[in-house]
Amino acid sequence: MKKHIQYSLCLSLLPIFMSFANEQDSKQKTSGASSYQQEAKIKINTFATQLKGQLQQAIKAGGLISAIDICKVQAPLIANALSTDSWQVARTSLKVRNHNNVADVWEKNTLDEFTIRKEDGQTFKQLKQEQLSLDSYRFMQAIPTGEVCLACHGKNIDENVQKHIKKQYPKDQATGFSKGDIRGAFTLSKAL
Ligand code: HEC
Repeated sequence: MKKHIQYSLCLSLLPIFMSFANEQDSKQKTSGASSYQQEAKIKINTFATQLKGQLQQAIKAGGLISAIDICKVQAPLIANALSTDSWQVARTSLKVRNHNNVADVWEKNTLDEFTIRKEDGQTFKQLKQEQLSLDSYRFMQAIPTGEVCLACHGKNIDENVQKHIKKQYPKDQATGFSKGDIRGAFTLSKAL
């Protein structure tokens, strides 16, 4: 009889232990995700700051046309330099200049979602998305179109600049943007 009570007590405690274990597990997952998000944000900041610096310096030194060539070399270099520790750092867009930046399915869905969320009034700071699965962590953050971007991504691009872009990127789609549009997004993934 005593044995029976002990046994059933054990059984009745089991769900409590299990839910405790689940809670611990999900706590670990969220704190894992947010520490990955932290890492992703640092990489994005570095990418944005370095590229903006290079771009501004290049425009100042040699004008827009030489800045295009510098962007072509520097953007992938900076992305590669930040792609360490199983991270892949890149940029993407619904309308790309460099074909290597074409969005995959998750990125395209996320960019579509960003468009809707922006129409609903969200700020650029809010336009981020993360996904944690068993084998990867992914993070995207929208990139706003600023005034300086219009010279190479806007509606009225100088004829010579346009010609040079077409020469370097015959399939360029990344024009026609206005200030405040979503130009694209930083997209990062980490293999787990
Ligand atoms: C001097 C011209 C120039 C200016 C100014 C410029 N870009 Fe670009 N942008 C480029 C070029 C060239 C590429 C392709 C880079 C590559 O080959 O990876 C590019 C690519 C991009 C991409 C990657 C997706 C794609 O289309 O391939 C994003 C995102 C982007 N630019 C955002 C911006 C933003 C935001 C600004 C303003 C802060 C800006 N650009 C200003 C020339 C420019």
